[in-house]
Amino acid sequence: MTPKIADIRLVASHPEVYEPCDDSFALVDALLADRMNLLQLEPKMCLEIGCGSGYVITSLALILEQDTNSSVHCFATDINPDAVEVTSATLKAHGVHAEVMNMDIASALEDRLSGLVDVVVVNPPYVPTPEDEVGAGGIVAAWAGGEDGRSVIDRILPVADKLLSEKGWLYMLTLAANKPSELCGLMRKKGYASKIIVQRSTEEESLHVIKFWRDPDSEVQIKKTMANRGSPTSIFSRLSRLSFSGHGNANSK
Ligand SMILES: C[S@@+](CC[C@H](N)C(=O)[O-])C[C@H]1O[C@@H](n2cnc3c(N)ncnc32)[C@H](O)[C@@H]1O
Repeated sequence: MTPKIADIRLVASHPEVYEPCDDSFALVDALLADRMNLLQLEPKMCLEIGCGSGYVITSLALILEQDTNSSVHCFATDINPDAVEVTSATLKAHGVHAEVMNMDIASALEDRLSGLVDVVVVNPPYVPTPEDEVGAGGIVAAWAGGEDGRSVIDRILPVADKLLSEKGWLYMLTLAANKPSELCGLMRKKGYASKIIVQRSTEEESLHVIKFWRDPDSEVQIKKTMANRGSPTSIFSRLSRLSFSGHGNANSK
């Protein structure tokens, strides 16, 4: 049976809301590539940060719905209020449900969902831009990522860490310019392993979808290495290279 994802013809639109594009498709392709693992995970709560048109959260809800035993609760947030309307319409057109809310990252959900979210998906604003464009609102918020395209990404990572359950996974779309190996290093310091699920190069950009999951071994390793071998800075560069090349218990994820 072909897995069901959002039908692009049923995705709602608005001039100020990001339309599904190569990056959105890459993120959904990553979810499809990891579908069997996702179904085995049996997530109870999922969240998309920056839902735009709703293409990704709708696809995730449809993928998980195919497991008849699943009773998943989905949330979606966006800083753009028009995106909230559009995502709600897209979900409705596909007959699936999520709580869709207008907020910065997950600010109003952090306490309510702390440690409870099993899957977080993010296609963030990742384009390197002048810093003053970040948070400008409307469609500009869809791409404006500040220096190295990292301004919003760097704020999302600690939030995802707070929200994720012990068994939780984060799928994040990044651009090569975002220095994905450095992102993996930052997450490794928080005890996460990482793996590239999808890599795609277009004429304009090189996209990666990275999956992060808690790895108790990496936490122990970091503590041991820090105790035995010098400063966190020197360890960081080494670990970031290791994690981005698939170090850790990646095969079982
Ligand atoms: C690249 S678009 C992705 C949209 C959709 N997820 C997709 O893949 O098609 C990034 C989205 O993040 C939203 N966004 C930007 N900054 C945000 C923030 N601080 N908090 C929540 N959402 C934000 C934008 O409004 C936009 O909808």
